[in-house]
Amino acid sequence: MTPLLFAPLKLRGLDIRNRIFVSPMCQYSCRDGLANDWHLVHLGARAVGGAGLVMAEATAVTPEGRISPEDLGLWSDTHAEALQPITDFIRAQGATPAIQLAHAGRKASCASPWKGGKALAPGEGAWTTLAPSALPFGHFPPPRALEREELPALVEAFRAAALRALEAGFEVVEIHMAHGYLLHNFLSPLSNARSDEYGGALQNRARLPLEVVHAVRSVWPERLPLMVRISATDWKDGGWDLEQSVQLARWLKEAGADMIDCSSGGLAADAQIPARPGYQVPFAAAIRRDAGIATAAVGLITEAVQAEQILANGEADAVAIARASLRDPHWPLRAAALLHADIPWPVQYERSKPMF
Ligand SMILES: Cc1cc2nc3c(=O)[nH]c(=O)nc-3n(C[C@H](O)[C@H](O)[C@H](O)COP(=O)(O)O)c2cc1C
Repeated sequence: MTPLLFAPLKLRGLDIRNRIFVSPMCQYSCRDGLANDWHLVHLGARAVGGAGLVMAEATAVTPEGRISPEDLGLWSDTHAEALQPITDFIRAQGATPAIQLAHAGRKASCASPWKGGKALAPGEGAWTTLAPSALPFGHFPPPRALEREELPALVEAFRAAALRALEAGFEVVEIHMAHGYLLHNFLSPLSNARSDEYGGALQNRARLPLEVVHAVRSVWPERLPLMVRISATDWKDGGWDLEQSVQLARWLKEAGADMIDCSSGGLAADAQIPARPGYQVPFAAAIRRDAGIATAAVGLITEAVQAEQILANGEADAVAIARASLRDPHWPLRAAALLHADIPWPVQYERSKPMF
């Protein structure tokens, strides 16, 4: 019997060859937001390595929505053109090219990790960050609170970036609502203190994120899936939590989302996160069960048997692998061997395929 990890996944009209997703991972390797050889080799290697879906990193919909000056962006057609060879290559390997659209909100304007990762100083090219309210993240400089009149342009930036993602050849789009970035800033009561219709009650805090999903869905073809990554909890009293996540997931489903990618944290600098193997899987399970929508589980999923068990337990429809995939781009091929799944290998590598 084929292990569940290697059973194809159908989302809308798209068939994904297996249920191992490469989780989006910032590479901080662009100039002016443009993809380059690094992105081709990095993402391409993981398609060669057997993943079902390969998701490009958080991709900024506006220049000031970048975490760092080296982030990937999609705010012009030139950016889409730079991504096209990458989606072509991923598809040619039999994998599904996906992209995460993002705005870093109050966590923008930082140095890349290997340049220290801190908020940029004015002399280092810092820019003013944007958020629902002027509440800072940890010791970061306070963001500027967005005016009500500025919000439609943000929604439009996500819509336009989605259209460009489509032109670049991506088949799955994911909206980033997690990890303390802009849309998460709107969702969480810890970062949203607005008194207009975009703050206060849950339906108000969810208004901008839902407007973004509606706008993206309006240009994303009916046959192609839309994913949303959320932080299912802020791990902090008075913050965003699983109950609100379930309600949000129901609304996201109504708005045309097909899968919730269930991460956590990133909004409160002092949150205590009990990270251990599979620690976010219960969120994927609860949202799948209570909101009736497909989920991806992510976070310290490193072993083939562990990943298979998550699917066998009905806790998620797919697993997203991040650091284990950096350690081993061929993680899916190795998982197939461990689980005795006879999957096709890249023909160029067939002579190294384990025998059964
Ligand atoms: C180098 C690196 C970059 C990351 N960049 C992103 C990103 O762009 N978008 C995102 O949603 N998560 C990002 N993450 C989080 C991962 O997608 C993933 O959720 C997290 O690492 C937990 O999974 P893991 O235990 O398999 O590494 C990043 C993680 C790493 C290690």
